[in-house]
Amino acid sequence: MSHATQHYDFSDADAAYRELARDLTALLTDERDLIANAANTAALIYGALPGLNWAGFYLYKSGELVLGPFQGKPACVRIALGKGVCGTAAARRATVVVEDVHTFPGHIACDSASNSEIVIPLVRGGELLGVLDLDSPLHARFGATDARGLEALAKIFIASLG
Ligand code: SME
Repeated sequence: MSHATQHYDFSDADAAYRELARDLTALLTDERDLIANAANTAALIYGALPGLNWAGFYLYKSGELVLGPFQGKPACVRIALGKGVCGTAAARRATVVVEDVHTFPGHIACDSASNSEIVIPLVRGGELLGVLDLDSPLHARFGATDARGLEALAKIFIASLG
């Protein structure tokens, strides 16, 4: 696969996520390094999805979430389980979609430009690895199609680790 930034047509979001899933699979093939694959996953997503101002990982270490590879502005480093959108998704082990972060109790504002957010927990064999977090300056940027599409990408990332 070419590593040049490709254009994904999100006017059909399901089709765009299917294409992204194929390209992510190709990008991570033959590499198992967590940091390398997280970095490439964040870069692919950030370049592909319209309307993002942050995309990246928090990794679960010693009982808390610690900032991992990402694209966007510098972000808060440590998040306790149950805190913010990331800590909530990690504690629940369920995807959390927030239409307006300003109304989410305990939301952690890393970039004041963010208005909506989606966080996908990364769980392998019952073990929490971390979360995949996407932020947008748009209101209600993320919906059910994004949740489905990003959960599929998260699965590909987890499978790549072996
Ligand atoms: N807003 C997140 C914190 C991480 S930043 O968005 C990158 C939260 O409430 O968990």
